[in-house]
Formats: sequence, C-alpha cells, structure tokens
Amino acid sequence: MIVKNINSVSLGTTNISISKIGLGTWAWGDTTVWSYGKGYTDDDIQEAFTVSINNGVNFLDTAEIYGRGTSEKLIGNLLKAINTDIVIASKFMPFPWRLTKGSLRKALIRSLKRLQLESVDVYQTHWPFPPVPVRTWMDAMADVVEDGLVRAVGVSNYSKAQMFRAYDQLAKRNIPLASNQVEYSLLKRSPETSGLLNSCKELGITLIAYSPLTMGLLTGKYSPDNPPPGIRGRRYRGNKLVRIEKLNGLLREIGQTRGGKSPAQVALNWLLAKGTVPIPGAKNAEQAKQNAGALGWILSDEEVALLDRESQK
Ligand SMILES: NC(=O)c1ccc[n+]([C@@H]2O[C@H](COP(=O)([O-])OP(=O)(O)OC[C@H]3O[C@@H](n4cnc5c(N)ncnc54)[C@H](OP(=O)(O)O)[C@@H]3O)[C@@H](O)[C@H]2O)c1
Repeated sequence: MIVKNINSVSLGTTNISISKIGLGTWAWGDTTVWSYGKGYTDDDIQEAFTVSINNGVNFLDTAEIYGRGTSEKLIGNLLKAINTDIVIASKFMPFPWRLTKGSLRKALIRSLKRLQLESVDVYQTHWPFPPVPVRTWMDAMADVVEDGLVRAVGVSNYSKAQMFRAYDQLAKRNIPLASNQVEYSLLKRSPETSGLLNSCKELGITLIAYSPLTMGLLTGKYSPDNPPPGIRGRRYRGNKLVRIEKLNGLLREIGQTRGGKSPAQVALNWLLAKGTVPIPGAKNAEQAKQNAGALGWILSDEEVALLDRESQK
C-alpha cells in the first residue's frame, strides 16, 4: 500500500517530493534588505532550519546572489550536520555580462562548492533578463542535467510566454520544466489574472510562490504606526499599510475560528488552497515554527472566497 503524505507534493512532473511549504533563505546573509546580523544571528538561522525540518519542511530555496553566496554557504554547513534528505533549490542570475552557456555551468559549480554538494535538486534561472534568449539558458540547463549536476530545472519571474518557451526548449531534450517561482500572495494576485497559474496547472509545472507573506506584511505585525524597517518601509508605507489593515483583520478573524491560527498561517494556507508551494522566509525558530503550522489543514472554499474578495479591494 502506498501511503501518501498529505503535506508533500511532487515538484512538477518529476519524482522529487517536496513539502507543500518550503523555506525561503534570502534573509540568510542579506544585509541590504533584511539586515542580516542585526536582530538575528547565525544561531537563529540554525534554529529556524532545525525547527523547519522537525516540523515537516524539507524544501529550501536559495540563490547564488543571496548575501553574495552567504545563504548557500550557511545551508552547506547546516546540511552537513543532519541526516535528513532535504530538497535544495538554487538559482543562476543571468547578469548581462554572462553571455554564454558556459557561464551557467561555472556559476553552478561555484554554488555546489558553497553548498558542499555534488549536485543540486533544482536549479532555476532567477530572472528572464536579456540579452541571452531563454532557449540558450534552457540548453545550458539541459546540459548540466545530462551531466548529473542538476536533478530538475526551474525558472523564476518568467511570464506565461517565457515559461512556454522554456518548457518547449527543455522538451526537445526530454526534460520537464519543473517549476516557475514568481511573486504571489494575497497582496500580489497577478499569477491569477495573467493566467500564469492556470497554465502551470495545465502543463504540470509547480508554481512556487515567493514573498508569500508580502515580505512580512501579512503577518499582521506591521501597521501605519509600526511600518517595516529599512528598504521595506520605503516600499510599503502610508496608505498602503492603511489599506491592508482590513485584510489583516480578516486573516486574524479566520485564524481565530480555526483554533488560533496566526494571520501568517492563514495567508500561507490560502496559497496552498490555490495549489501552489509557498516559500516563506524565516529568520528564527519562532517564525519557522509558525510558518510550518500552515501545513496539515486547509481553508474551506468559503474562507478562500472571502479572502479573495477582501484582497481585491
Ligand atoms: N525568485 C525571486 O526573484 C525571489 C524574490 C524574493 C524572494 N524569493 C524567495 O522567496 C522567499 C520568501 O520571500 P521573502 O523573504 O521576500 O518574503 P516573505 O516570505 O513574504 O516574508 C519573510 C519575512 O517576513 C517576516 N516573517 C516571516 N514569517 C514570520 C512570522 N511567522 N511571523 C512574523 N514575521 C514573519 C520576516 O521578516 P521580519 O521579521 O523582518 O519582518 C521574514 O524575513 C525568499 O527567502 C526567497 O527564497 C525569491
């Protein structure tokens, strides 16, 4: 008898099984947006990692550019200390000076060194930046898959048209496009309106939802009187924070009727109900534990519809 873990899902059409909620690690080493080192330390990060794994999260998202490699380095060290199988997804940044297929392989080798791995489970192109066309990067991806350095290929921030192009190019080499990682949250619904989410479902591509808490806004802890710090405070301020108060109120209300779930847990669960895999960032054990608590239950259709309506306002 096959026992299906209700908290796991296959990544796209691959045989890679991931938890329905992942762990985003942009803040692990980043000082520009996330103030790494101020308010959270490597010990906090280690605890966030351990607590996530102990609560059923086995899917970690990183990138070569996060903290200029620090995120990958931290993960490499953390992986050495455990015996559990963790699915690691990293990303290649197609900087405009990276002009050849070989630059992807070189960047991958450097990522593998920092991660202390022989191969990575998922390798994603971070952005569809010009001038190198999508098909060239997908050929480069197919090469590193065939060489055993990468198990599955993903893209990130790709529009529907770009995703189709990537899918078709990989198909020529019999490799499925496993995932498209895009910004998606109650405050960023464009994957629904653009049709991207539906296309992912039709093609069997996992939509990985980044910034699923809108960089912390949907946790309910930020308000016009208590704006987020740093760069986030400049991006989300004034009226924007006033406008989300009602939505955060509804998240709180639904959470209470669900036995005391937090706004963050309800916001993440909404993304599960939409059939996506959210990857919330966590800086410490408390955040990691709370976010993993969005697993194991699901909002009703009525609750999803209520949140849909309120978030559209
Ligand atoms: N592909 C891309 O271009 C791209 C872009 C962005 C992100 N990502 C990926 O997506 C991941 C998640 O996105 P994100 O980090 O931008 O935003 P997010 O997950 O929406 O928010 C994360 C931040 O919210 C706060 N937080 C998280 N859980 C909390 C909780 N339970 N209670 C209270 N506060 C909590 C923390 O910051 P504070 O405590 O400081 O508020 C945390 O750093 C990233 O780590 C990265 O892996 C990818």
